[in-house]
Amino acid sequence: MIKLNFQYSKQNDVKFKKLSLNLVFLIQDKNIKNQIDNFCKKNNLNLNSLQKANLISPEANDLRISNSNKLPNEYLVHKIKINESLTADYFRNYCADLISNFKNEKIQELYISLPEYSAFNKYYDDHSYFFQTFIEGFVLGNYDFEKYITKKKTNKILTITFISNYTVQLKKAIRNTKDVTDGVNFAKDLQNEPGNKLTPHEFAKRISLMFKGTSVKVKIMDEKEIKKRKMGGLLAVGQGSKNPPRFIVLKYHGTKNKNSKPIAVVGKGVTFDSGGISIKPSNNMGEMKADMSGAAVVAGLLLSAEKAKLPINLIGIIPSAENMPSGSSMRPGDIVITSSGKSIEVIDTDAEGRMVLSDALIYASKQKPKLIIDLATLTGACVVALGEHAAGMFTKDENLKDKLFKSGMKTYDRVWPLPMWDEYNYLIKSDVADVKNLGSSRWGGAITAAKFLEKFVDKNIPWVHLDIAGPAVANNVNNYTKKFMTGFGVRLLFDFVSNDVR
Ligand code: BES
Ligand code: MN
Ligand code: ZN
Repeated sequence: MIKLNFQYSKQNDVKFKKLSLNLVFLIQDKNIKNQIDNFCKKNNLNLNSLQKANLISPEANDLRISNSNKLPNEYLVHKIKINESLTADYFRNYCADLISNFKNEKIQELYISLPEYSAFNKYYDDHSYFFQTFIEGFVLGNYDFEKYITKKKTNKILTITFISNYTVQLKKAIRNTKDVTDGVNFAKDLQNEPGNKLTPHEFAKRISLMFKGTSVKVKIMDEKEIKKRKMGGLLAVGQGSKNPPRFIVLKYHGTKNKNSKPIAVVGKGVTFDSGGISIKPSNNMGEMKADMSGAAVVAGLLLSAEKAKLPINLIGIIPSAENMPSGSSMRPGDIVITSSGKSIEVIDTDAEGRMVLSDALIYASKQKPKLIIDLATLTGACVVALGEHAAGMFTKDENLKDKLFKSGMKTYDRVWPLPMWDEYNYLIKSDVADVKNLGSSRWGGAITAAKFLEKFVDKNIPWVHLDIAGPAVANNVNNYTKKFMTGFGVRLLFDFVSNDVR
């Protein structure tokens, strides 16, 4: 990770410094020749005929041009093709790729002549968010997880100056990006921690530490308190591990109105999921260190909301446990009583996420929030259905569904609806308890998991479940989440709860 400084400047005020590169965007269309002539004229550039031919050619997308001994030292011309493959994620991806390539360059000053919004406004919500996608690309693409590498790769500092006359929108974009990516990076840091370092106890400690001195109140319940509250689902999952469970509650109060109801955000916090007695195959089991991704997103969201001082109220709820096989583990066949009294028949100890969430959703319902959102790396079945590009979204509330979908398309933390029909209920009917933790058929595993969760939510409270098993874990679906965990959900929910303000 290098250190990034962001600045902005109006076109006529730019003073180029040494060791600089100016990134310029052109649009590959019929008008490309004119654009190139204007670019050369404006910057007093004399290109040779080969350079010009290269610039015009639709085959070349990026061209670096040395500015002899003038400043900026170099230009980088990037040409954009406006076609079907252009999306709202284009500049985020482009800037993320750019920053990973620049980590090893001598350049210390990067000047970016931002393109005109009018050419792209059909892909974006507003002018400022258009700018924000560039800045997010730099910050997200710059992320890595070097904590346990003794020799750090680089300590470079890069100053990025955005050039545009729309400084109001730019200033807002820089501010917003800082707030939201602080939350994303916090979530990523937590996700990347391995199971031996981030136990439920450590998880709680890390969260406390992060919110120390802020307005967010953190309440940590230890095993004793969890037992007192009869959270049988959470206790059963944690009972096989030497690292006891924790129940973490975060409260952010951003409104002046004392009576304004909060939004409850619940996150699955399984710090490592071995499967328990129904143990997983060893292939890629290490990825299950990120089975607390939903919880990480909850912590990241509250951090961002607090930094942005959003005028809303949030309750973050994190049931955290480690799912391990041992002589004290829960067994298939066990019957477990949750904090509402509802009983669960354990068919498969690897279906532990829904069990820790049962008590958390009961707790959330008791807080009388206006809305409950839960995030969980809940099922492989959801990844089979949707791949890694989208989270499964389960809700009976059409309004909620539409709003979240919209936030997804805007932020590119995308969600896709899957059914919540009651016809699926018979699959989780138990003969000996109120519900069983595994569907009696393999089919629709993501849906039966969602239907299980529904049993623990107060029916009068709008609720949405997001199965983030696909997009949460390190993947290669874009340029800003290549090797490390993704923080998927923080940008989505930050946008969603921000809209709740208006
Ligand atoms: N944490 C897993 C789900 C998961 C799978 C997350 C792949 C990320 C990537 C969850 O606890 C689990 O084990 N689910 C089982 C459910 C099954 C036993 C009903 C699964 O998906 O196989
Ligand atoms: Mn599991
Ligand atoms: Zn799990």
